[in-house]
This record gives sequence, C-alpha cells and structure tokens, in this order.
Amino acid sequence: MIASTFAGDAPALIPLPQKMECREGVFQLQAKTRILTDVPANDTGQYLAERLGKATGYDLKVGRSTKAQPTKGAILLTTKNAKPELGAEGYELTVAPDSVVVRASKTAGLFYGVQSLLELLPPEVFAAKPVAGVDWKIPCVQIEDQPRFKWRGFMLDVARHFFTKDEVKQLLDVLVLHKINTLHLHLTDDQGWRIEIKKYPRLTEVGAWREEAGFGLDPKLSTAYGPDGKYGGYYTQDDIRELVAYARGKHITIVPEIEMPGHSCAALAAYPELSCSGGPYTPNTKGGVFAGVYCAGKDETFEFLQNVLAEVRQLFPGQYIHIGGDEVPKDNWKKCPWCQARIKAEGLKNEHELQSYFIRRIEKFINAQGRNLIGWSEIREGGLAQNAVVMDWIGGAVEAASAGHDVIMSPTKFCYLDYYQSTNHATEPKAIGNYLPLSKVYSFEPLPETLDPQNKPHILGGQGNLWTEYVPNFKHAQFMAFPRMCALAEVTWSPQASRNWEDFTRRLQTQFQRFDQLGVNYRKGTPERIGE
Ligand code: ACM
Ligand code: ZN
Repeated sequence: MIASTFAGDAPALIPLPQKMECREGVFQLQAKTRILTDVPANDTGQYLAERLGKATGYDLKVGRSTKAQPTKGAILLTTKNAKPELGAEGYELTVAPDSVVVRASKTAGLFYGVQSLLELLPPEVFAAKPVAGVDWKIPCVQIEDQPRFKWRGFMLDVARHFFTKDEVKQLLDVLVLHKINTLHLHLTDDQGWRIEIKKYPRLTEVGAWREEAGFGLDPKLSTAYGPDGKYGGYYTQDDIRELVAYARGKHITIVPEIEMPGHSCAALAAYPELSCSGGPYTPNTKGGVFAGVYCAGKDETFEFLQNVLAEVRQLFPGQYIHIGGDEVPKDNWKKCPWCQARIKAEGLKNEHELQSYFIRRIEKFINAQGRNLIGWSEIREGGLAQNAVVMDWIGGAVEAASAGHDVIMSPTKFCYLDYYQSTNHATEPKAIGNYLPLSKVYSFEPLPETLDPQNKPHILGGQGNLWTEYVPNFKHAQFMAFPRMCALAEVTWSPQASRNWEDFTRRLQTQFQRFDQLGVNYRKGTPERIGE
C-alpha cells in the first residue's frame, strides 16, 4: 500500500482517500455484472444498483453472498473480514479486472466505499437517464480509507430563505458525494420559523411568513413567495420525518437548530408575551430597534421552549440539538423587571451570567431528554454549560476544548460560505461581504495549533455554513456552496499531509462534470482563476 500520489490522469476522487494504489487494467461494468451482498450490505447494494441502473440503463441484479472473497464478474459488498481499525465510516475498495470488492465493518463504510466506486466511473454515471455511448469501465485500484474527522458538516440557513423539502433532498444527494455526514438546519431566526410545532400553531401561521424578502433583495429573485404574496414557508412534521429518513438512508444526520435566546423575532411575533417588552422589537433610545430576545425572567419562556424542544426531539433522532445562543442583545434584559428579578433571585452578577443561566437551564432539559446541546461560540459567555458542545465561529475553541468540551470548527475566516468568492464584486452576485475564495477553504486546518495534543480529540471536525440573507433561491445556494464544500469535504475527510492544491483543482474539473450530470449549479472557473 502506498500513500496517494497521482500521475496526471489518476482517478479524480473528492475527498481524496487516505491510501490509494492505482493498478493495471480495468473492470468493465456490463449489463450482466452482478451485485452481491451479505445481509448488512443489502441496502447499500440496492442503492448501488439503482444509481448505476439510472445512468447505464442496466437492470443490475442484487444477489446474496456469504463469501468474503472476490467473485468473478461481480461487485461484492461485504462486512466479512473487514478491518475494525478502519472504524464505522472506513472501507476498503479493491477493483481488479474480473471483480470489485467493497469491504467495511459497518453500513456507513460500505456506503462510502460505494461513493468512491461511483467516482471511479465516468462522470456520466451521475446522469438521471441512460447515457448512450459511454464505456463503463472502472480503473483497477486498491483503496483503504477512513475519515480524519467524525463531524463533516454543512449548515443551511432555511430561516432567511426557505428551501423546499425537495431542494433539501437535492442538496443531500450532492453532500453525500462528498462523504459529508451532517446537515445542520438553521430552522428559526428573526426572519422566519420553519418547523411545525403542534402545541404552538402560531409559530408557523404567523412566524413562517414576512412581507418582504429584506436585505435589499429583489423579491422577484426569490422562489419563496406564497400564493398570497407573502415570503416564507415551513416544514410540516411529516416533511421533517421524510427528510430525516431520506438523510438517514444516505448516512447523513440532520441536526436541528432552534435559536435562543436571541434571533427570535419570528417566534416573538407569534407569541409576543414571551419577550421582555411585549413584542418582537423594542424601540431604543437611538430610534432603532433591538432584535428580539426571549425574556429570561419569565418561567413561561422556559415552559414554551421546553415544549418546543420536546417536539423537536421526537422528530430528530440524532444525538445533538443546536440551540443557537449567538449574538444575544442584552439591552432588553437590562431594562426588564422579570429579568432583573431573575438575576437577583439566582445570585447572578449581570446579563452575561443571565445568558449562561438560560443556556444551562435549557441544557438540563435537553440532557434529561437524552440529548446533547450544541451552541455557537457565545454559549461560553458567563460560564459554559456543563457538557455543551461549542460550534466555534468567532473563537473560543481552544479554551472550550481545554476545559473538556467537544468543539466543532466553523470559523468565519474559512467556513462562511455566504462570503464573496472573488474580490471582483461586479462579477459576483451580491453577498454579505468579506472574501472567502476556494483556496482559502482548502487551506483550513480544523485542529487549532495552540491546542494541547491531549485535547485534540475534542475537536470533532469542521463545518461550512451557508447563511442565506443574500441567497434567495436554490440555484444561488448551490453556487455559494460548490465547489467550496468540495474543499471542506477534503479538509475534514482526507489526511492533512495529502493536501495538494494543484491536484485538488485537477480533480475538481471531473467533479464539475459530475455536477453537470447531476444538474448542480456551481461557481465555475479554471484552476488558474478558481482561487483568485
Ligand atoms: C453566526 O454566524 N451568528 C453564528
Ligand atoms: Zn425579561
């Protein structure tokens, strides 16, 4: 086994496998090729047959095999003789002239082995309909692979722009190609509440709609206007169950985010009594408004949020619930008699400690429900809740990990996919600002240099975040996400030592051909231009 070093026409896998040896010859996929699986590999075998069938038109048969050894003329998917040291997501893939074997101890690994196998085929394998005249050959390779990090995430802000259930499914189809295993949905914010909560129907009746797209956007660009001319939308609980199941079939966990205590205008428009001031916005002395924040003094706030979270927990089976916690304006709390009474009763020093009280109280509830809380960097304000996971966007990763907390790295500088992709704004669609070219994402190192080696296991991985204030439709979202998520996928999956910009941009040209087949929009550019 040799480490991955490629000649010019070596296979164009993204993310790059941990170890890959290119060998002589090819395996010819034919109509008579059989797919054989043991019992645990059955679903993955069906997935492969369906995927290959669409593009080739072959009606590939999936059969049962208890054998561990390669079988002539067959693609064998098996858990037999798998190396446990490759973990739940690792796999081996052996392509020989007369056989293919994907071997992994768990179904996630089998699934990722199949993704690599698909990427060894011509890009037309991602076509939705049979493509004539393609030579369906697979180059012979020996791959041994496993991810560097266990959290390989993408966040979609469905609160600022509502993406339909089908759009989210299309997104999942592309993420899977990159071996991304987490989709974080930012479900609530000032501009919209996107998840049906049975106990509080006004959250979606009122909170899911607004009059304007906002942010200076041309409403005509937006795809989220309803028949009554209002902008928004939401997922019913059935929609959520469908999305969660769809994602699970692709080994992706959907992590829900319910924002609190700030970024809550949509909820407070529906239930204004949960704010300090009786409404989502409060006039301030400068004639402006403060963004909505739940009142931390009223017990009704916690009762409401716990009821919401209890329904959310029922819908999302994953280990984590994200509660936001970022950018909480404290001005309302300073003036609020209920909040001040809480500070006094709990012996808190100030509003920062009130934020901490809020997070801890919610965390206790989430833990009692058998789940772990995730929050943005600011949940560290006034003391970090006990076993909370920090999603670092503005710092604090080293401090949090050193104190024994798990951390997900999504620093703005490397992971904010709402930033411009070029310094020439005239040629780019309007974005929130800043500059995050593909090359910068590719240079991201999730492990903070100053972190004590013994605490490095607390860094779970990395995540790209797509905020959508300036993203009014799905095509635009894809343009912002790809190819920057291709880079982030490689950063979070592949060994650090294998990072090679020239080779990555070479492989990216093939990824673009796959995107063309899948109908995925992306920011095009030559390798020379792409990093500008
Ligand atoms: C954030 O970008 N406010 C987490
Ligand atoms: Zn209050």
